[in-house]
Amino acid sequence: MTFEEIVIRCRRAQRIAVLTGAGISAESGVPTFRDAQTGLWARYKPEELATPEAFQRNPKQVWDWYTWRRERVLQVQPNAGHYAISQWEQHVINRGGDFALITQNVDGLHKRAGSQHLLELHGNLFRTKRWTDGVVIDTWSAAESPPRCPQTGALLRPDVVWFGEMLPHDLLREAMRVTTVCEIFLCVGTSTQVYPAAELPFIALRNGAIVIEVNPQPTPLTPHAHYVFAAAAGHCLPPFIHVICGSE
Ligand code: OAD
Repeated sequence: MTFEEIVIRCRRAQRIAVLTGAGISAESGVPTFRDAQTGLWARYKPEELATPEAFQRNPKQVWDWYTWRRERVLQVQPNAGHYAISQWEQHVINRGGDFALITQNVDGLHKRAGSQHLLELHGNLFRTKRWTDGVVIDTWSAAESPPRCPQTGALLRPDVVWFGEMLPHDLLREAMRVTTVCEIFLCVGTSTQVYPAAELPFIALRNGAIVIEVNPQPTPLTPHAHYVFAAAAGHCLPPFIHVICGSE
């Protein structure tokens, strides 16, 4: 499809779904997972830090690593790509449409940029839950490492999905639903390699959606997408979304 055709379809659409990965936060200064130079996993072995077994073995080390990640994320700001997506959402809602943003990121930058219907598939760095039963606990003592639940004394862990863990069932179901019914599916900054999120753009394609990809590098989705912006999200999303939301 041409750029003009894509813009026309996006302007008419009443149901939009967006999937983001680490790439959308790269321009904010949050390292991506698979970036050989700066990626978090290049310097730390994920199986030492982001698994239930690692937490069982050494909860303090895992907690301290997440504290470091939280502090890093608090030092950065949402970028123009995050803001463009939340502006599109506001525009679609104002016209009575449905907009959902599915993210694999745990950094909370979409929320800080104003996104509302947000499905954080892999959890959020800034939430904790009880290690014993998974109940989310909002307050904890930053002085403790790892902190404990004020009610039961159970260890608290970050409320993120670790390697080898299932995604929260209700969130995944809602992500599948919005993907199945959307007319436009925008896929930004994800290597589309980690399932089940990687399957979502293909489900959208099978259900007749127009699929648009934003990624400077080719991915398994690239040959199948209706339109590809082979560019950084913060560079190409603001003008694209400005054209969609501008006067028709
Ligand atoms: P990856 O690190 O696998 O991929 C990041 C993608 O972003 C790559 O395809 C880059 O080419 C692209 N990219 C880099 N800079 C970009 C920019 N400025 N604009 C647009 N795209 C850019 O990250 P994810 O696909 O998010 O899961 O990884 C998925 C999951 O794998 C993560 O959520 C994590 C990991 O295992 C868990 O922790 C459960």
